[in-house]
Amino acid sequence: MTEPAVTLRPVTAADLDTLFAHQLDAEANAMAVVHLRDREAFYPHWARILADPAITASAVLLDGALVGHVTCFDQGGQDTIGYWIAKEHWGKGIASRALQLLLEQVPRRPLHAQVARSNHRSLRVLERAGFRVTRYEHAPATERFPACEEALLVLDGGEPPTPPGP
Ligand SMILES: CC(C)(COP(=O)(O)OP(=O)(O)OC[C@H]1O[C@@H](n2cnc3c(N)ncnc32)[C@H](O)[C@@H]1OP(=O)(O)O)[C@@H](O)C(=O)NCCC(=O)NCCS
Repeated sequence: MTEPAVTLRPVTAADLDTLFAHQLDAEANAMAVVHLRDREAFYPHWARILADPAITASAVLLDGALVGHVTCFDQGGQDTIGYWIAKEHWGKGIASRALQLLLEQVPRRPLHAQVARSNHRSLRVLERAGFRVTRYEHAPATERFPACEEALLVLDGGEPPTPPGP
């Protein structure tokens, strides 16, 4: 596949209406095994993300147009990756390229990802980027997620941990 013309830049408040629309799609929510966020949940959630300098939240642009986002955030003490691409652009290699670009921007390792085991596309994106499944576990239902079998993945590498001093 020819590599798509994907670039990243920080998400801004002006992007949120488009990102909100992306996550309304029922097929995308079924794939990701999440409940969509309504306006009352979505905008405060993203306001917190944009206000947090520890989170990398990148808009994914295809030929300059906003088609999704890719993020790196702390979840339970682990640097964790997430992404979402608008359905009309699936299957063009955009998530794979966006993740590759994010991995160049974020040098920290290890990085983690949690994906519904049924989300074969997302698993493929992560495995292409070098993530490997460390285990599967049952994830109970929460306000955000229906119960599902979840794959936990890690991307190792980078500098080895500094040994403890004398
Ligand atoms: C998952 C998602 C990000 C993938 O985005 P995308 O831009 O279509 O991904 P890419 O085109 O880079 O790669 C998809 C890969 O899955 C493969 N694929 C497509 N359908 C597949 C299927 N049913 N089973 C297995 N692999 C599949 C493609 O062939 C491709 O792999 P390849 O490049 O080796 O051929 C996108 O579908 C999405 O946003 N879904 C909804 C939200 C979501 O699931 N987010 C992730 C939550 S963890």
